[in-house]
Amino acid sequence: MVSNTSNASKPRERRGVVGAVACASVWLTLGCEKVSAGDVAFGEYLSGECVTCHRKDGSDKGIPPIIGWPADQFVAVLKSYKVKVRDNQVMQNVAVKLSDEEMEALAAYFATLKSAN
Ligand code: HEC
Repeated sequence: MVSNTSNASKPRERRGVVGAVACASVWLTLGCEKVSAGDVAFGEYLSGECVTCHRKDGSDKGIPPIIGWPADQFVAVLKSYKVKVRDNQVMQNVAVKLSDEEMEALAAYFATLKSAN
């Protein structure tokens, strides 16, 4: 793409439209303030599957606790299972079904939980 001064405003307009669309899709729960953040309520809904193995109180009964993590780290770990960089059959099967949006929601939800210790 060639940029010149006569249409310098075009890219900015386009970004505005993309931003508005992203905003519209999350406005119900986030009020457009944190467009990239996961939806905590959606994460809680999705977490039912996870907490059959991972304990919500953060205790470790042979399965690592996953609460209170920074969201970006949480998502990165799930993605590494999804693409099979991290080697664990159980978590690969779990992660392969999750979309980016679902991973972000789960990360947001589990980040809100505090350890009972
Ligand atoms: C059937 C049991 C099971 C279910 C269900 C399950 N996990 Fe796991 N999860 C594990 C085990 C076992 C590990 C440890 C795997 C390893 O050693 O890499 C793990 C590891 C993880 C880790 C990395 C923990 C660490 O300390 O490195 C994260 C994050 C995680 N799971 C998130 C989730 C999420 C989110 C869900 C629900 C969508 C979920 N898990 C569902 C068993 C489960």
